[in-house]
Amino acid sequence: MQILTTIAELRAARHDVAGSVGLVPTMGALHEGHLALVRQARAANDCVCVSIFVNPTQFSANEDLSTYPRDTKRDLKLLESEDVDLVFMPADEEMYPDGFATGVQVGPIAERLEGATRPGHFLGVATVVLKLFNIVQPTRAYFGRKDAQQLVVIQRMARDLDLDVEIVPVDTVREADGLAMSSRNAYLQPDEREAALVLWNALSLAREMWGKGARDAEAFRARMRELIEAEELARLDYVSVADPWTLEEVERIQGPTLVSMAVRIGKTRLIDNVTLGE
Ligand code: PAJ
Repeated sequence: MQILTTIAELRAARHDVAGSVGLVPTMGALHEGHLALVRQARAANDCVCVSIFVNPTQFSANEDLSTYPRDTKRDLKLLESEDVDLVFMPADEEMYPDGFATGVQVGPIAERLEGATRPGHFLGVATVVLKLFNIVQPTRAYFGRKDAQQLVVIQRMARDLDLDVEIVPVDTVREADGLAMSSRNAYLQPDEREAALVLWNALSLAREMWGKGARDAEAFRARMRELIEAEELARLDYVSVADPWTLEEVERIQGPTLVSMAVRIGKTRLIDNVTLGE
C-alpha cells in the first residue's frame, strides 16, 4: 500500500495503473460503513484508492472541524488489511493553496435539507470531490447512501459536468440495533447513544406505515416528528419525505421516496434516511 501526500505523487502512482481505478473519498476515522465502500471498490477494480482528507471547506465556522475524530494510524492499518493500493492524504495547503477561489454550485438540490441548516456545505463537498476526481481520475467512485443528499449532489454534478466516472451508491451499514454507523457516533455519551436510536425507530415507523398502505406524506412527517420529540435528549432539525432526485417535499408517496432526517442528540448532529417504494 502506497501512502501519498502530494498531488504530484498521486498522479505519478495513478499513471502506473493499467486497469480500472476505484476511488473511495473519506474524512477518515474509518468504520465498517467506510469499509463496505472499500470492499465494493476492491471487488470491482484493479486498483483501489482511498482518500483521507478532513475537508475544511464543507464545515461552517460553528461546526466540529477542530474536534472531528482523527486516527490516521488506525485508519492506515484498516486500509492495509482491506488490500487497498493507494491512500491519498493531502495537507490542507496541498488542496487549497493560497488564492484558491473556484467552487462547484449544483443548484437547488444543494440548498434543501442539509443545505438549509448547513449553508455552503455542499459547495465544499462538490468542490473537493471534483478535485479528487481530477487528481485520481477514477473509473468508479463509491459513496454511501447514509449521506443520501450528498450522493444526489455528486450524481447531479457528474451528469451536469459530463464527468467520466461511474458513481456507485453503497447501502448504509448499521450497528446491530439499527443506528447508522458514523464517525460522529464517537461523540455520544452512553445515555445519548441510547437516545440516538430514535432516528432508526422513526425510520422503522415510516417503513411500517408504508407497509400498511399509508401514502399521505404529511401523516409520515407528523408521526415521525411526534416520536422524535418524545425523546428527551433529542432535538429535531428536520424530517423530510421527498422526491429522491429533486429532494422536493412530496404530498403523496408514489414511487421511490426518500425519508430523511437530522436530529441533534446533545451536541451531536446525526442524519439518517431510508428510501420507500424502491
Ligand atoms: P465521510 O463522512 O468520511 O464518509 C465517507 C463515505 O462513507 C461517504 O460516501 C459516506 O456516505 C460513507 N459512509 C459513512 N457512513 C456510512 C455507513 N454507515 N454506511 C455506508 N456508507 C457510509 O462523506 C464524507 O466523508 C465527505 O463529505 C467526503 C465525500 C469525503 C467529501 O469530503
